[in-house]
Amino acid sequence: MTTHRLAVIPGDGIGTEVTPAAQSVLDAVAARHGFGFDYREFDWSCERYRTEGAMMPADGLDRLRDHDAILLGAVGSPGVPDHVSLWGLLIPIRRTFRQYVNLRPVRCFDGVESPLRNADVDLVVVRENIEGEYSQIGGRINSGFPDEMAVQETVFTRVGVSRIADYAFRLATTRRHRLTSATKSNGIVHTLPFWDEVVAERAQGFPDVDWDAEHIDALCAKVVLDPGRFDVIVGSNLFGDILSDLTAAVAGSIGIAPSANLNPERDFPSMFEPVHGSAPDIAGRGVANPIGAIWSAAMLLDHLGHPEAATEVVDAIAAVLSETPLRTPDLGGTATTSEFTAAIVKRVA
Ligand code: NAI
Ligand code: MG
Repeated sequence: MTTHRLAVIPGDGIGTEVTPAAQSVLDAVAARHGFGFDYREFDWSCERYRTEGAMMPADGLDRLRDHDAILLGAVGSPGVPDHVSLWGLLIPIRRTFRQYVNLRPVRCFDGVESPLRNADVDLVVVRENIEGEYSQIGGRINSGFPDEMAVQETVFTRVGVSRIADYAFRLATTRRHRLTSATKSNGIVHTLPFWDEVVAERAQGFPDVDWDAEHIDALCAKVVLDPGRFDVIVGSNLFGDILSDLTAAVAGSIGIAPSANLNPERDFPSMFEPVHGSAPDIAGRGVANPIGAIWSAAMLLDHLGHPEAATEVVDAIAAVLSETPLRTPDLGGTATTSEFTAAIVKRVA
């Protein structure tokens, strides 16, 4: 029997509630397909930061390295600055393991009400995940004086833009052959014209994909007014991040949205995590929507070579939403995390 070694980092807040939910779905579907998971859990979190002074131990990345994949909940806690939790754990994992693709599918499930009147959403945001606006290049000077200043440089490399564009175009060829590149080359006159040029070059390798570039502001408006026109949207680290929260909300709730941080070459483990954060406003009450985490687990199954099991998990989510009234409070229901999860487990087991 194949056993996959998974590193599990539940993190903070609702991360610790939705991650076990995803694991129980993984176990149930794996058992039926004749494979299994060997989990190693790590308590790396803001809680650990408070007691140990670091989100993870100094050799943390090495400890993750020999796993087949990483399942993560969310990090972040009031009192710990968000850049500490992000740069102390998530970003080092994404960068060290060259997870340069952040894949964020969005779907409007039957039975989930969208805030929009006619939301027919089925799209994937492909976010560049290791360069762009999230850069350490820059600094602050004159702290405390009137001329205090901060500078942060955006970094786009030809290699980085090419590989994310190629990934997105290739993905579009497996879907509806439509791609939109998020830009803002009218206002940001060095980096984004470069992004546009490289995307246009890569597009030539995919003549059967119908593509265009949209300025991010107009694109946001179009996503709200007519989300059904989009298939694959490729964007920089910042644009992709913003777009994926927007598209997730358009589809009904950020609690539904999954993500995969992929190292497509498979030189390193990839990481799977819901798009949402630790939601301190609802943490500890057992009412977090587990769909984002469970759908992320489905993406993990796909990545590890179990596409049928992955499809069954997503179909189970769709079936519970369309055939039963079970909903967590973010979707207008009264179900708890464990009640909803139990319904999914029953379908896939
Ligand atoms: P958030 O995603 O945690 O919460 C935003 C809103 O959505 C809240 O009202 C929350 O209750 C709701 N929500 C989120 N996930 C939900 C779920 N599964 N079920 C039901 N409702 C859900 O974003 P926020 O409030 O901006 O950040 C909170 C903390 O999480 C911060 O410390 C932030 O840095 C961190 N964060 C961590 C991320 C990660 O680990 N990848 C991503 C985003 C934020
Ligand atoms: Mg985000």
